[in-house]
Amino acid sequence: MQAKIPAGLDRKESEIYRKLDPARLPRHIAIIMDGNGRWAKRRHLPRVAGHRAGVAAVRSTVETAARIGIHALTLYAFSEENWKKRPKSEVDFLMRLLSRYLKAELPTLNQNNIRLEYIGRQHELPEAVQDRMDWARESTARNTGTVLTLALNYSARSELVDAFRSMVNAASQNGGLEHLRIDEDTVGEHLYTRDLPDPDLVVRTSGEMRLSNFLLWQLAYAEIWVTSTLWPDFRGVHLLEGIAEYQKRERRYGGLNHSDLHAQPTNF
Ligand code: FPP
Repeated sequence: MQAKIPAGLDRKESEIYRKLDPARLPRHIAIIMDGNGRWAKRRHLPRVAGHRAGVAAVRSTVETAARIGIHALTLYAFSEENWKKRPKSEVDFLMRLLSRYLKAELPTLNQNNIRLEYIGRQHELPEAVQDRMDWARESTARNTGTVLTLALNYSARSELVDAFRSMVNAASQNGGLEHLRIDEDTVGEHLYTRDLPDPDLVVRTSGEMRLSNFLLWQLAYAEIWVTSTLWPDFRGVHLLEGIAEYQKRERRYGGLNHSDLHAQPTNF
């Protein structure tokens, strides 16, 4: 029997979706959105034009993820390094773009039953942006569909530092450091992503083969898909291509594949 095509997919998306196994969709997809600057440069435009064009890519990707029922989508929008190493004018532009995006997209997020979350050191962002972020999160808090997490002023190493600090604080408040438990589950419970499953698939656009300090703990067993498409050109159809690629992979989590596991031992 052919899988039912979710409402709202266009012709190209439907074509790819038809070939997917709906029972094996990744639960959590993380995306490193890269290539805005290159997209703009190729058109002899200022870098910020690439960021502006990137919003359409965010919109299309988020809507397609929601339509096909992806449980969680996490977008690396702004790293701690971006914050410190880019010209102030570009950072200010990105902040304004984010604020505008949150206001403009709220009705669509609600229509698509999307719940908004954030990871990263939010308290270091401009106060007006933090207020807008809080407002948008609260306005979508009752939605039960896809959890859209925006990584803003995010660094995986800072997240781990914050997690270790939080573990020590929790132990101190709980009777002292002799109560400090250090194991993988406890670290996971203190990460920003404690309420999300680890990503099954990480997508990076624009061809670079790096994780760039993104979700280093959580991506331990994720499948990696790198596409040469620059972020402003990325659309829902590309997300589906990534999922198709993911479904071709065999996930072993450090174990053996089925045929090797059942092979006869060899004498040598
Ligand atoms: C990387 O491209 C992209 C960013 C640093 C910013 C991502 C922002 C957006 C996609 C805009 C809108 C986002 C939201 C959530 C509203 P780059 O500038 O590093 O590109 P380059 O490597 O080609 O220079």
